[in-house]
Amino acid sequence: MNLYYMILAGGIGSRMKSPELPKQFLKIGDTPILVRTVRNFEDFGLFRAGVICCPVDWVEYTKATLLEYGISTNNIFIIPGGTNRNNSVKNGCKFLTERFNICDDDVILTHDAVRPFIDSRIIKDNIEAVKEYGACNTVMPVYDSVIRSSTGQFFTEHLHRAELYRVQTPQSFKLFELNNLINSLSESELGEYTDVASIFADRGYRVKLVEGSDVNIKLTTPFDMAVAETVVMNMA
Ligand code: CTP
Repeated sequence: MNLYYMILAGGIGSRMKSPELPKQFLKIGDTPILVRTVRNFEDFGLFRAGVICCPVDWVEYTKATLLEYGISTNNIFIIPGGTNRNNSVKNGCKFLTERFNICDDDVILTHDAVRPFIDSRIIKDNIEAVKEYGACNTVMPVYDSVIRSSTGQFFTEHLHRAELYRVQTPQSFKLFELNNLINSLSESELGEYTDVASIFADRGYRVKLVEGSDVNIKLTTPFDMAVAETVVMNMA
């Protein structure tokens, strides 16, 4: 069994409101978000290769940034992402399956570039879960009460919090199954789903839940950057 990782860095981060620089390249402290994320996978030490899907015009910049921060790109492949997150996953799978001789039990961890605070415990738990169950999703319990509103104006229904989880990443799969599944989807299906584990679940796969962490946040808005600065100061 070989282990691969895929970093989804193909977005532009419109909600971050940083038009010059996609958010994955913004710095927390003195280090770009993407560098922090990739380091966590490289430091783990067990991956055969990593693929980073980034915006098409930022491939060279991504490579230069990793090298500038001392990350060897010998086993990291930087490729153009797609028009949405699932198309980026599709491009990453295509690259790896063409480049490597993939076996049935090879595993891939897919992770958002903008979740730089992933730790080795979550990576290890993903590997164990995907080996045993074939697919897994990193989640956290919901702390607030959650309601549904079909109009956005008035209350429709109350949901049972004990059964609700927030989805984080990594989401991990057998690489050949991920490649087959993602290639079976129409363009509209690829645009509809915001994460791949939900596609597996909808297609009848059993997706094991792995516990994430409160600090494994997705950096989406400028407020999240302020939180990230605090996290880094407290980690030092
Ligand atoms: N992503 C990707 N390819 C895309 C779009 C998104 O690989 N075409 C990645 C992002 O780079 C990010 C992750 O998916 O690491 C989660 O997406 P999100 O936080 O929504 O990122 P953006 O699409 O960049 O943000 P926004 O929706 O605010 O524009």
